[in-house]
Amino acid sequence: MKEAGYEIAAFPGDGTGPEVIREGEKVLAALAEGGPAPWHVTSHPGGGQYYLKTGREWEPEAADAAARADAILLGAVGWPGATLPNGDLAGRALVLGLREGLDLFANVRPCKLYPGVRHRISGSFQEVWAPKNVDLVIVRENTEDLYTPVRGRLTRGHETEVAVDTRIITRKGAERVIRYAFELARSRTRGAPEDGHRRLTCVDKSNVLEGCRFFRETFDRVGADYPDIERDYAYVDAFTQWLVRNPERYNVVVTTNMMGDIITDLAAVLQGGMGFAAGGNIGTDHGMFEPVHGSAPKHAGKDRVNPFATFLAVEQMLRWIADRHQDARLAQQADRLERAVASVLAGGTARTYDQGGTVTTHAAGDRLAEAVRAERR
Ligand code: IPM
Ligand code: MN
Repeated sequence: MKEAGYEIAAFPGDGTGPEVIREGEKVLAALAEGGPAPWHVTSHPGGGQYYLKTGREWEPEAADAAARADAILLGAVGWPGATLPNGDLAGRALVLGLREGLDLFANVRPCKLYPGVRHRISGSFQEVWAPKNVDLVIVRENTEDLYTPVRGRLTRGHETEVAVDTRIITRKGAERVIRYAFELARSRTRGAPEDGHRRLTCVDKSNVLEGCRFFRETFDRVGADYPDIERDYAYVDAFTQWLVRNPERYNVVVTTNMMGDIITDLAAVLQGGMGFAAGGNIGTDHGMFEPVHGSAPKHAGKDRVNPFATFLAVEQMLRWIADRHQDARLAQQADRLERAVASVLAGGTARTYDQGGTVTTHAAGDRLAEAVRAERR
């Protein structure tokens, strides 16, 4: 527990990022009312739009602040036309750069469907998944695989002839993320919705790829330390259809970086869409939490995107800080935030456009702040 309060570094970033982070800060302020501030939020500019304006992705002191903070809250990064001279996404320093620099090796994406949330496939809202059937967490390796910056082009006479990306799977990288996932599976005592089994599914393409064979071997080796966790295996192609058809089977899933990037967005459909998808980038000493919907340029400045992914990212962040510092007070605040989220969603009073509603981003934040105040009593 930290008497002086925890330092949270916020990076609102691009497009809709600042709009949702503003609501996240509003909810943090509501949680903190009526007592000494348990945290302090400092916002730092940066991202693709900042790059277009200043020629810098962010300020050097922002990078230091991120490294010093007790936790990082990220909005979104990426803007049309904002590209670094080498072709990289301008703003990558804030997302990929921090993942690498702070060694945030586990990308943890909870996927839970709350009662009252609408979800849809093929255009119309459906009742395919009952909320009780969707409650899983995908753990994605976050520092290697095809994201390793071992890539390039062979250009001869101004013409690209070959472009290469290298897929790297290391013992260290695989082992630590798999161990993280086994620990998580152990802590989720409810297990899979279908049968209560504390199941951990390894998703890979080990019928073809060497790196995936190594990942699966590592899964079995680490798994020997966790006899209480049921080991389960799926090839990534088959997994995509099982996940949609039978989400209740899944409890915790672990996978490599690129496959994880793809299957986590697929999984977001099960929880009502990207408007509800939050993720934590977690390392040994640092954690960065974000709504994963991105900067959504076409919705930017319209006060219409769904801020619930940010509320859930804030909850995940508070819980992570609480665990790390054995701070029961913060764990209570995370519980309180989750109850407020669940009650507003169940009431259906904060439906933004993606949910077929007309509530604005800031009005949804106001509803949540009110619900947080009501939860105190
Ligand atoms: C994510 C995002 C990032 C990724 C982008 C913004 C670089 O899609 O967090 O899933 O590819 O990892
Ligand atoms: Mn992604």
